[in-house]
Amino acid sequence: MPTLDISNLTKAYGDNVVLHGISVTIADGEFVSLIGSSGCGKSTLLRTIAGLESITDGTISMDGRIINTLPPKDRDIAMVFQNYALYPHLTVAENMGFSLKLRKVDKATARKAVEEAAELLGLTDYLDRPPRALSGGQRQRVAMGRAIVRNPKVFLFDEPLSNLDAKLRVQMRLEIKTLQKRLGTTSVYVTHDQVEALTMSDQLVLLNRGNVEQIGTPSEVYHRPANTFVATFIGSPAMNLLEGTYLREGDLSTLDVAGTRISLPGHPELANGSTVNVGIRPEHLVPVAQAAEGCFKLAVGLSETTGAQTLVHGTAGDQDLAAMLSGDFSPPPGSELTIKPQADAMHLFDARSGTRLPLHNEAAVRTAPTLIPAQ
Ligand SMILES: Nc1ncnc2c1ncn2[C@@H]1O[C@H](COP(=O)(O)OP(=O)(O)OP(=O)(O)O)[C@@H](O)[C@H]1O
Ligand SMILES: [Mg+2]
Repeated sequence: MPTLDISNLTKAYGDNVVLHGISVTIADGEFVSLIGSSGCGKSTLLRTIAGLESITDGTISMDGRIINTLPPKDRDIAMVFQNYALYPHLTVAENMGFSLKLRKVDKATARKAVEEAAELLGLTDYLDRPPRALSGGQRQRVAMGRAIVRNPKVFLFDEPLSNLDAKLRVQMRLEIKTLQKRLGTTSVYVTHDQVEALTMSDQLVLLNRGNVEQIGTPSEVYHRPANTFVATFIGSPAMNLLEGTYLREGDLSTLDVAGTRISLPGHPELANGSTVNVGIRPEHLVPVAQAAEGCFKLAVGLSETTGAQTLVHGTAGDQDLAAMLSGDFSPPPGSELTIKPQADAMHLFDARSGTRLPLHNEAAVRTAPTLIPAQ
């Protein structure tokens, strides 16, 4: 039985429907990220799970019990907010133990819970300080500690790292992930940062305007994006999307794309001459010494280097194309590079709907929980 089962959840504010029949199941101990652009409904979905927002239609079940109208305090859920929401006049220990005090847990038990959480979070030396005497990362840990002492069934996180600098974010995301695995607490984590979502999650739920675009493991959404929205949202730098023509001559299938012909496995559903969107990630293009069949001729424009890698922007057959090359590459603007897409690294999408055109031996992508395979 899933710990959390969200079925056909709709949320409207007046006439404004912000969640359109969302279905997601979350297994015990799983770490699931809700990801999508600003305003797509991530926080609203999280808040409905917490009980901080009512729902318009559908059901939310926890351990098989419908909790649609259960007040937040009875849901056995702890939420960690972006702004930490710490009480400034209380010490770290008092902040962490606040919910236990409210629940009238006896003092010795509460102190033990706080001390254990502080130990886990490296906060033992800071227990008597007020929050203002802590760094951003330490405050974030206190907010985590407050959730941990309650020993809830589910953690909900709403962009908990977005107030931290880039280096601390990387450190804290590893800490949160390590802690979650150690505690084994089912977690739902809202972020608009795809690196966070990809590195931390067992499953990602990609939302767009209140709809689920895809549910999958990080590997599934990266390697088999359901449509052009997912394809260009997940992955940094973004996937190249080129316009191409699918050609079939006898048993041979080829793509006419960006000034070259690339052979590919057959797509029997496509008519000869169909226009398609061809997706290729910048990291799946490799430079080759000699022009050969299936290579792009990249007219080099600007390059951006990050040390380890160089992102080369340019055009191939009049279409924009970016390639991620090794950092010691710095082709001058105006030069020409021959680059080859790695085998099996191309994605085909229907030109009109943007939907993925899977190869016939490929598993279907998931947009609803019914297709989740057994773990
Ligand atoms: N109380 C409210 N009343 C009316 N509309 C609301 C309310 N809360 C949120 N909305 C609307 O619901 C939509 C989803 O908002 P939500 O806060 O869930 O987005 P989000 O994905 O968390 O965005 P962000 O990444 O910016 O935090 C937005 O269009 C927002 O304007
Ligand atoms: Mg939000």
